[in-house]
Amino acid sequence: MPLCTTVRMLKEAKEIQTAVGAFNVENMEMAQAVISAAEEMGCPVILQTSSSAARYAPMPVFAAMIAAMAELATVPVALHLDHADEALVHEALKSGYTSVMYDGSKKSFSENVNRTKAIVSAAEALNIPVEGELGGIGGKEDDVECQIDYTDPAEAADFVAQTGVNSLAVAIGTMHGVYKTTPKLDIQRLEAISAVVDVPLVLHGASGLSTIDLQNCIKAGICKINFGTDLRIAYTQSIRDYMEQNPNKFDPRAYGKVARERVTEIVKKKLVITSNIILES
Ligand code: G3H
Ligand code: ZN
Repeated sequence: MPLCTTVRMLKEAKEIQTAVGAFNVENMEMAQAVISAAEEMGCPVILQTSSSAARYAPMPVFAAMIAAMAELATVPVALHLDHADEALVHEALKSGYTSVMYDGSKKSFSENVNRTKAIVSAAEALNIPVEGELGGIGGKEDDVECQIDYTDPAEAADFVAQTGVNSLAVAIGTMHGVYKTTPKLDIQRLEAISAVVDVPLVLHGASGLSTIDLQNCIKAGICKINFGTDLRIAYTQSIRDYMEQNPNKFDPRAYGKVARERVTEIVKKKLVITSNIILES
């Protein structure tokens, strides 16, 4: 089926108190791995590219490739641009992405509102949903170390009302990248945000979080969960292992296949949690 937007999948997840898994992918094998996992688990899925991955591809190439994969897929697939500035959002809207995130979280509240609002009106004209961010997810973003700036519930309600975003990324203690210490999530804050914000809430920096943390976040209102680092680690480590075990092999398809299978396994485990799938033992 054609690429779909994230609107319906997030709405349905919110209704049944589950979340849609959103996975950062950087190449064909990772994208195939994520879609295979979603097909095996029978759930919709969001593939997303960071700004740097979108530039690496570049964007129209990536969008065309994922659209072709979505056509062949047996589950709904959306293509989302993650943490982007205005220029990249506009490029994504032209390139066939079906969901975008404008990240104005490092700007002042009013500047974030004004810029996000402008993006929402441009995207709305094309029926493309927009994810906004208020507060700051901690950890590394494009190699820059950032502190957590917890989302204020009242500001979140105001932000959503003023901008008209379709979903909102919140800062409740998660961080991008590898956690150096066990994260402590502010679930009470998340509940307070959920109580005053109607749109689906998004959790960033989910790699490395425990099953119970993820489940608590879903119970408290998270409808989209972003995973990146865990996939990159699995992909690269499996190639490293393959090279060590097969130092004389040089067919990229051989290690590509191994890496793809490893990522599929990781993503299936994440989808069991996000979609609340009961596995038969
Ligand atoms: O926006 C991307 C996600 O928040 C992924 O974070 O790499 O820590 O899993 P992660
Ligand atoms: Zn993120």
